[in-house]
Amino acid sequence: MLDLFADAEPWQEPLAPGAAILRRFALSRATALLGGIDDVAAVSPFRHMVTPGGYTMSVAMTNCGRLGWATNDRGYLYAPNDPITGQPWPPMPDVFRALCHDAAVEAGYADFTPDACLVNRYAVGTKLSLHQDKDEPDLRAPIVSVSLGLPAIFQFGGLRRNDPLRRLMLEHGDVVVWGGASRLFYHGIQPLKPGAHPQTGAFRFNLTFRQAGSGEQK
Ligand code: SIN
Ligand code: FE2
Repeated sequence: MLDLFADAEPWQEPLAPGAAILRRFALSRATALLGGIDDVAAVSPFRHMVTPGGYTMSVAMTNCGRLGWATNDRGYLYAPNDPITGQPWPPMPDVFRALCHDAAVEAGYADFTPDACLVNRYAVGTKLSLHQDKDEPDLRAPIVSVSLGLPAIFQFGGLRRNDPLRRLMLEHGDVVVWGGASRLFYHGIQPLKPGAHPQTGAFRFNLTFRQAGSGEQK
């Protein structure tokens, strides 16, 4: 297939106050990022977490970094250990940290130091329902979210669940950064359409970088 953007420089699209899409920003590092995902999953495997309400999430997840996002029967939490292995989550690969730093700077967040990276794996038909990222104690830090593999439709709304949604196609190498006035905006991913990506086959991966601790220990 002819890809008119294959050689294009990354470009930026404003999304909302404090939020931008950095198109193809991660493309030149995609192979290294996918290798990092393999390394992380070799230590802490992908799993389907169960929400406090007893619902098994369709998206498979794992984490890397000092803290990892997980569920238990009381709610959502960030913890230093993987509940499956009983060991610390694997360290954040250097290529993850560098990409996240560069993307945050590009979007206007100069001093973002993530201590948590949630890795999401979407199979065909899986979705992530509309939600806010609000389990982090310091909401001054932005969210940096990297898309790899099959394209997906990202929904981005406002502070209220029923605010109007924008629907944006996120493709391999796109990075979304949101913070400031849009830090708590609702967002989600529509069910993944079938496809075959040359590097990820029938999957989409997403890396979501966050500051999940107080920021004092990095
Ligand atoms: C998320 O909201 O945690 C993930 C969003 C995405 O997969 O792009
Ligand atoms: Fe989210």
